[in-house]
Amino acid sequence: MEARLTVPTEPKPLLATLRGHRQPRPPLWLMRQAGRYLPEYRALRAEKGGFLALVHDSAAAAEVTVQPLRRFGFDGAILFSDILMLPYGLGWGLRFAEGEGPVLPKFTERAQLAELDMAGLAERTAPIMETVRLVRAGLPEGTPLIGFAGSPFTVACYMIEGGGSKDFGAVRKMAWGDPQLFADLLEVVTAATIEYLDAQAKAGAQVLMLFDSWAGVLPPTLFAKHVVDPTTRIVTEMKRRFPGLPMIGFPRLAGTMIGAYAATGVNAIGIDTATDPAIAASLLPANTALQGNLDPLALVAGGEALTTEARKLLLALQGRPHIFNLGHGIIPQTPPENVKLLVDFIRNG
Ligand code: CP3
Repeated sequence: MEARLTVPTEPKPLLATLRGHRQPRPPLWLMRQAGRYLPEYRALRAEKGGFLALVHDSAAAAEVTVQPLRRFGFDGAILFSDILMLPYGLGWGLRFAEGEGPVLPKFTERAQLAELDMAGLAERTAPIMETVRLVRAGLPEGTPLIGFAGSPFTVACYMIEGGGSKDFGAVRKMAWGDPQLFADLLEVVTAATIEYLDAQAKAGAQVLMLFDSWAGVLPPTLFAKHVVDPTTRIVTEMKRRFPGLPMIGFPRLAGTMIGAYAATGVNAIGIDTATDPAIAASLLPANTALQGNLDPLALVAGGEALTTEARKLLLALQGRPHIFNLGHGIIPQTPPENVKLLVDFIRNG
């Protein structure tokens, strides 16, 4: 299918772009648009006693989801939660240590598979579904709510390392050294992710995104097996259950492997900061939208540097369905006024 140019008055620009219709000005939202760069977020988080407490308080999580929309009027809202709420939902311990990031028990051996409690998933993640319902009830028609999960591979990365890692060495070691255990873990996480996204869609999420932050640590052979295959299974199943529900995939650091990723059937592919948008476009079918990929540090810098770089990105993808976004999450040091500058620039030139 050819990319088509639709009328400038499209009332739902994000959904239209996800269907492969290019907009004269791309719809815009930012990964991690709710969060620490906003003083109103920091205040509510302090009041509730931390990130996990915030996620578990549906009214507060709904409020945090819409805070950036009130300020900037983005074209999409993203549910305030975290990709690690899936292992949490399976009964896998999770805490966020100040200045350290997430800390989880380490998955190292087969016996631990029995500790993953699929039966408790719905109950443990019920507050998140309530957040989805609350946000949806208050959003304007043209602003869809994006639900999300981590991709099974990236979630497994955090479970195996017990948190973040420089090179995910333990993950790659297990993938090569004990492929059956690795595949069995991915299988459980994939099945859980389908049920978790199913619940988000039933609660009212209108777009679903899979964050695969560490997809690019794998070589192409393992990328096909551990990223493309589970993602394809999730996308196929969600589209069977919810025909017409658009999906976005973000295989970060995948480089030229995004060509293989297109086979997952996602409607849009998020490209990271290091990816040349024109080369990415050349690797993808014409009706696959591209999402990205402004350097989050350009947004920290602001001014001319920001608008010049944003203009280059608009030009590079002007022939494609494009969702304007960053190449990775917004960073906490970002001045909110720079976000305003970017939004005004994208909207009004
Ligand atoms: O606006 C939004 O996008 C809100 C929802 C959201 C969060 N995390 C909130 C959050 C989303 C979509 C995520 C995705 C996420 N979480 C990813 C994938 C995207 C990426 O950045 O690569 C990953 C890898 C995680 C795991 C995670 N969560 C880490 C490594 C950390 C600590 C480091 C950090 O960035 O803060 C978190 C914590 C987290 N998740 C915060 C927020 C707002 C910060 C918590 C706080 O201190 O207030």
